[in-house]
Amino acid sequence: MSELRHWHPVSLSRRLGKKPRAVTVCDTDLVVYRTASGGVGALRDECPHRRMRLSEGWVDGEAIVCPYHGFRYALDGEGQSPATPQLKLCAVAYEAVDRHGAIWVREKGSDAVFPTIGRDGYYSYGVLQHDIHAPLEPCLDNFSEVEHTPTTHALFGYRAEAMAQVETETRLTADTVRVINRGPQKPVPAYVEKLFNVHSDDDFVDDWTVHFSPVHIHYHQYWVDRASDAARPDQIHLAVFFTPIDRDSTRVMTFVHLTRDPRARFGFDWIVARPIMLRLIDHEVRLDKRMIEQLADPDPDLRGTRLGRFDKALRENRKRIEAIYRASGSAET
Ligand code: FES
Ligand SMILES: [Fe+2]
Repeated sequence: MSELRHWHPVSLSRRLGKKPRAVTVCDTDLVVYRTASGGVGALRDECPHRRMRLSEGWVDGEAIVCPYHGFRYALDGEGQSPATPQLKLCAVAYEAVDRHGAIWVREKGSDAVFPTIGRDGYYSYGVLQHDIHAPLEPCLDNFSEVEHTPTTHALFGYRAEAMAQVETETRLTADTVRVINRGPQKPVPAYVEKLFNVHSDDDFVDDWTVHFSPVHIHYHQYWVDRASDAARPDQIHLAVFFTPIDRDSTRVMTFVHLTRDPRARFGFDWIVARPIMLRLIDHEVRLDKRMIEQLADPDPDLRGTRLGRFDKALRENRKRIEAIYRASGSAET
């Protein structure tokens, strides 16, 4: 059975306009499009007549039209030839929805559950997309440990000289891998201290759980005032999804949530804090991307690597990728 049975985010909603769009997911070429009434469609990007790319076509009412001979396809894939109405044909159709700022697809008839995106008490700040030229596993490896944060990251992470003091704990269930880290935050510029109430001498807590239907991580990130051991009120929740494009590349979609209501304070945070937070996170993911793409060997196989105390999740993730994400049958509950 294919990984496409899980719900995958395949594109930012805002990038899908009137024109059909080609996307590749798990090595499968799809066309996604919006119909006149606002429905979202996803079909195999190949016309069953003579294999033209449907993504080169256009939408007419509720149908997508193949540019080669004008065959029309409904959302369920049922085709119609204007010149030969008695001809029966069907394109391969997928389920598609527009939710949380992304277009999601899954195989028809799948019972995979739509994943959780937000968190109670948090507000959506937006979604970011980054395509990384590396397979799923090395991308997930980077997002599953904090040892790279002193050297790779600009703001979110630990002080290089204090890395030995950072505590890390891995907790496992059959379906999830949770990692909890706490240690001294690396220095941040004054404007970040002011805007997001983060202090350079705080402890940074990065507590995440990896899920496998589809492969995604929920991060809970916050700062603790070391003097009082109290958490600061501004906290971040990131839901990061890893959609394999093909064997060599991965689409990383990051859904950003904060405890701070961006519409409060007369919309100040919507105009100022929101774009700054999105830009900071965009920059951090680009730094991850640059590092991952410089690997000498992006082979997912861990044999021959020397794993340390921060790398415990890597093997556990692989087991669950095989058992839950790639295996036939059991979707995550
Ligand atoms: S190839 Fe699509 S209509 Fe002929
Ligand atoms: Fe990172």
